[in-house]
Amino acid sequence: MKILVVCLGNICRSPMAEGILRSKIKEKKLVIVVDSAGTADYHVGESPDARAIATSKKFGIDISSLRGRQFIADDFDRFDFIYAMDHSNYNNIKRLARNSGDIKKIFFFYTKENNALDVPDPWFGGPEGFIDVFDILEESSDRILSELQTL
Ligand code: 4NP
Repeated sequence: MKILVVCLGNICRSPMAEGILRSKIKEKKLVIVVDSAGTADYHVGESPDARAIATSKKFGIDISSLRGRQFIADDFDRFDFIYAMDHSNYNNIKRLARNSGDIKKIFFFYTKENNALDVPDPWFGGPEGFIDVFDILEESSDRILSELQTL
């Protein structure tokens, strides 16, 4: 199984989510491939934001080797599940869908009682915002992995 997590810049939320998911997948010995991407091209080829790297490191996760890349329509062929960090990302991904099969692959990363929620974008705030986001990403990663394990 292959899953893709998508935010706007691919330097804050989705690389942290990728790191968390990889760590949990390894720990649980699951066979799931994870990647991340951004809907925008602003930070292609860049390392994650220094605050995202530092926050992840605090929780024992090294995301420093990840590099930003932009989401492309081919990702619909390469991945089974595509998780959007917020409604804006969801709409941007959906705009690139070529058919209803593509649209069926798009999900929200953060949900509560089946309601889609936005993972707040920590880019404009201070470092404490990254801790709050990390907590949301960790809780949602657990939910997503248990959902995928029931398939
Ligand atoms: P991300 O955060 O989508 O979680 O990676 C952002 C990073 C950069 C920008 C916006 C959001 N930006 O406008 O450059």
